[in-house]
Amino acid sequence: LAAILSNITLMKLNLILFIVLMFLIIAFNSFTSSQIDRRITLTSVDTTKSYLTLYGQYVYNREKCFNCHSLNQTKDPKIISLDGLANKYPKSWHYWHLVDPTIVVVNSKMPSFSILSYKIFNKDSIDKIIHEISLEEWDKELAESKLINAELNSNGIEVKENSEIIALISYLDNIQESEELKLIRIKQHEETLIQNKLDDSLWARSEFLINQSINEKHSSKKGQQVFSINCTACHGRQGEGGVGPNLTDNYWLHGSSNENIANTIINGVPDKGMIGWRYELTPNEVGYLVSFLKSIKGTNPPNAKMPQGIIE
Ligand code: HEC
Ligand code: HEC
Repeated sequence: LAAILSNITLMKLNLILFIVLMFLIIAFNSFTSSQIDRRITLTSVDTTKSYLTLYGQYVYNREKCFNCHSLNQTKDPKIISLDGLANKYPKSWHYWHLVDPTIVVVNSKMPSFSILSYKIFNKDSIDKIIHEISLEEWDKELAESKLINAELNSNGIEVKENSEIIALISYLDNIQESEELKLIRIKQHEETLIQNKLDDSLWARSEFLINQSINEKHSSKKGQQVFSINCTACHGRQGEGGVGPNLTDNYWLHGSSNENIANTIINGVPDKGMIGWRYELTPNEVGYLVSFLKSIKGTNPPNAKMPQGIIE
C-alpha cells in the first residue's frame, strides 16, 4: 500500500513540476518578446532625428511595416527596400500611398493604413514611448508637424496636425541612404558617365550612319515606328503637333535641312521640353526619323497646330 501511495504522490509531484515548467516557459517567452519590442523603440533613439520622426519610427515598428520592408539593401525578393527613401516622393504621395496605395501605384499590393490619419499623438505619447520631453520640445514637434500638415493641405489633404500619419510621413521622408546604397549609386553614376562618353564618341562618328539610313529603302516606314514609340505624345500621331510643334508644315524653329532635323533630335531643346535623344536612339534610328519627317511634310493632318517658327 505504501508503495502505491508513494507512487501516486510521485505522479502528483510530476504533474506539479510539469505545470511549473510550462508556466516558466510561457513567462520566459513573453519576457523575451517584450525585451525585443522594447529594443525596437529604445535602439531607435537617434539624437539626429526629431521626436516627430522618432515617433514616426515607432509607428513604423508598431504597424510592423518591417514585415514587408527593410531599411537596407536586401536580397530577399519578398522584401521591398525603403533604403534612401528620403525626398524620393512628395509628402502628399506618401499620404495617399498610406491611405489607399492604389491611388498612386497601379495594382499596389500594399495594405491600406488609413487608420493612421485618425490616430492622434500628444506630448504624453512621446513621453511614454521615447522619453520625457519638455514643453518647448513638444512645441517644436508640433511646429514641425504643422509644417508637414500645411504641405499636405496645399495639396487638398485635410488631416489633423498631430495625427500619426504625419509622424510616419516625417519618418519615411527622412530615411537616408545606407553606406551600401551610397556606393551603388556612385557606381551607377560612374557607369552612366562612361556610357555617355561612349555615346558621344558614337555621335561624333554618326554623320555617315545617319545619311546612310536616311537613304535606305523603307527608311520612312521604319522612322514611323520609331516616331510612334517616342514622339507622338508631344507631336501627335500624325505629326500634327501638341505640346511640341506641328512637324508637317513648312514652318521650322530649328531648321528644316536633314542636318538641322537630325541635330534637333539628337540634342533636343531641353529648356523648351524636348529631351535630347542621344542616349535613347541610335544614329540609324535618327536617320529613319528624318526620313519619316520628310515624308509627312505637307500632309496637312486634321487638328494641325498653328505654325511656329519661320517658313522654309
Ligand atoms: C503586406 C506587405 C506590406 C506591408 C505590411 C507594408 N507594405 Fe509598403 N509596400 C508593399 C508593397 C508590395 C509595395 C510596392 C508597391 C507600392 O509601392 O505600393 C510597398 C511600397 C511601399 C513604399 C514605396 C517604396 C518606393 O520606393 O516606391 C513605401 C514608402 C511603403 N511601402 C511604406 C510602408 C509603410 C510605412 C508601411 C507600414 C505602415 C508599409 N509600407 C507596410 C507592401 C507592404
Ligand atoms: C516631351 C515632349 C516632346 C517629345 C517626346 C518630343 N518632342 Fe520634339 N519638340 C518638343 C517641343 C516642345 C519642341 C519645340 C522646341 C522649341 O520651342 O524650340 C520640339 C521640337 C521638335 C523639332 C523641331 C521642330 C522645329 O520647328 O524646328 C523636331 C524636329 C522634333 N521636335 C522632333 C521630335 C522627334 C523626332 C521626337 C521623338 C524622337 C520628339 N521630337 C519627341 C517636344 C517633344
